[in-house]
Amino acid sequence: MADPDPLSPLRSARKVLAAVEAAEGIGLLEAVAGGPVPAGQLADSFDLRPEPLHALLRVLRWHGVLDDTGAAGWQLSEVYRELLTGPPGSNARALLRIERWAAQDHLNADGVTAALRGRRLPTEIPDAELPALADAMLTGARASAPHLARLPELRDRTSLADIAGGSGGYSLTLCRMFRGLTATVYDRAPMLEHAARAVKEAELGDRVRLVPWDLHRDPLAGPEAGEASGPAHDAALLSHVLHLLDRRERVRLLTGAGRLLPGGGLLLVHDFLYEEPPAGSALAASAVDWLALGAAYHPDRRALAAELAEAGFTLRRTVPLPALGTTVAVATRD
Ligand SMILES: C[S@@+](CC[C@H](N)C(=O)[O-])C[C@H]1O[C@@H](n2cnc3c(N)ncnc32)[C@H](O)[C@@H]1O
Repeated sequence: MADPDPLSPLRSARKVLAAVEAAEGIGLLEAVAGGPVPAGQLADSFDLRPEPLHALLRVLRWHGVLDDTGAAGWQLSEVYRELLTGPPGSNARALLRIERWAAQDHLNADGVTAALRGRRLPTEIPDAELPALADAMLTGARASAPHLARLPELRDRTSLADIAGGSGGYSLTLCRMFRGLTATVYDRAPMLEHAARAVKEAELGDRVRLVPWDLHRDPLAGPEAGEASGPAHDAALLSHVLHLLDRRERVRLLTGAGRLLPGGGLLLVHDFLYEEPPAGSALAASAVDWLALGAAYHPDRRALAAELAEAGFTLRRTVPLPALGTTVAVATRD
């Protein structure tokens, strides 16, 4: 029978997530990923009290995270083993870490209230979380960039501006897929250290350039950004960037992107688009992230088209990517 209290699953989810995050944070999940470990050994290794540890292990079994093998001990369930230790490139672990940081930092009732009263959080993630985010972005890009590569508008483009391109995953994947493409990743210097490593590993240093840039301070085009004056690119990508910004900042960044492009130049906005997402969906929940940041990003197609128009772009079409829960907006510079 359906639970008559719609808040009940939400309260339960928060509790279970607390248990999973605690186990992951302590290192318990990793310890049992390779096979069964007796509870006593876990208590000794991690200096934990046996009784609450036993309760935690049972809770995790009730929720399908762990299996109890009996005398041999506790091990990660098959589903969680796959999620947390493979397939190669799974970013569940990094996401757990980042979500936990966000929940403690601002993604909570106090954070949303503060945002409603005008608090704006920095768009920059703290240095301690940067490696996890950089990894998660590379993994995300490996899954997402091939969808972007299918857009016919991207074919025959020669120079991509990957604005706030993070650890460079989109640029790298797209350059691998289009031999005639070069890309420039604009992002903060600490993030570009991660991009530099990825570029080196991909051996694409001759086609992927990295330009340190601060979206709040630096112009995108011109000699200050390391560019000759005049349009420097024939395509630009804003992937998962606009949701960090409020409306005024979004239009400002879009306008800056326009300066990198000639008339007719291509702009791809890859982000969340909110056309009445289903209740309980990850998409509907994601708007709370941007609310708690103080960005309050929640455009539908019409609202995005209006922001693009204000910045000198025409929205040509939107392409939902159901596998990712995101949308690509295809626009051209007026
Ligand atoms: C959610 S990530 C998206 C990265 C990448 N485009 C992607 O889709 O994977 C947001 C990016 O914005 C960058 N960012 C945040 N604040 C910034 C700032 N002040 N200047 C430049 N980049 C910034 C972050 O470093 C990060 O790479």
